[in-house]
Amino acid sequence: MAELVGDGRLERSSVVANNAMNRTRRLAGRDGYSRVLGLDIAALITARLAEAGTFRWLDLCCGSGKALVDAARALNATGLAITGVDLAGYFTADVPAQVDLLTTSITTWTPTHSFDLITCVHGLHYIGDKLGALAKAASWLAADGLFVANFDTSGVRLSDGSPGGRRLSAALRQTGFDYDARNRRIRREGHATVGFPFRYLGADERAGPNYTGQPAVHSYYEISRSLGSS
Ligand SMILES: C[S@@+](CC[C@H](N)C(=O)[O-])C[C@H]1O[C@@H](n2cnc3c(N)ncnc32)[C@H](O)[C@@H]1O
Repeated sequence: MAELVGDGRLERSSVVANNAMNRTRRLAGRDGYSRVLGLDIAALITARLAEAGTFRWLDLCCGSGKALVDAARALNATGLAITGVDLAGYFTADVPAQVDLLTTSITTWTPTHSFDLITCVHGLHYIGDKLGALAKAASWLAADGLFVANFDTSGVRLSDGSPGGRRLSAALRQTGFDYDARNRRIRREGHATVGFPFRYLGADERAGPNYTGQPAVHSYYEISRSLGSS
């Protein structure tokens, strides 16, 4: 097995604490959040604000937070609250009052309320316990909330080094996640307490580039129970 590291070492590694990674995506445009996630975020927020009067958006691994600032400025709505969380804290200046940018790891942070939308744009590639992060996101969703993220199942490895493969796909499906293999996106609707049949072992920070062309992290798991058992 590859040499595995824990979160402390991973978060200090050159792969994760990397100045060259793109942290400056905007909300709109060719490489913007809406395009990358296949979701018109401004339209979703506008529609839900019209119905409910309030909307909470959480962006995990938010980078500079520019996409969040774009949304707050474009929509300029009372009732909209946006939270961005990123380990590096390289945030944009001049952040509107609706946007809260927090410097911390998503692996240790716990929110105090639920969210209507949770996104993670090219962030899960750098997380050690990726399945743990998916489970946390599901638990932080409002009853009718939506989670959407870039996700590459080949970053999830079994203890023999093989990709999680069909076992992982089945576990994602059974726990209510919808994986789009073509676009490498994962999505779920609605709050849930999710338990995956895998136990996290550690991360390989030297896995090399993934489909984005950037060095990424492989997350190792052992099978903890058979699918369908509890
Ligand atoms: C490729 S950048 C994407 C940033 C932003 N989503 C964007 O598209 O502009 C990945 C981000 O994940 C952040 N990150 C990596 N590990 C993290 C962790 N454990 N907790 C929070 N953020 C993390 C990095 O600091 C980096 O800003």
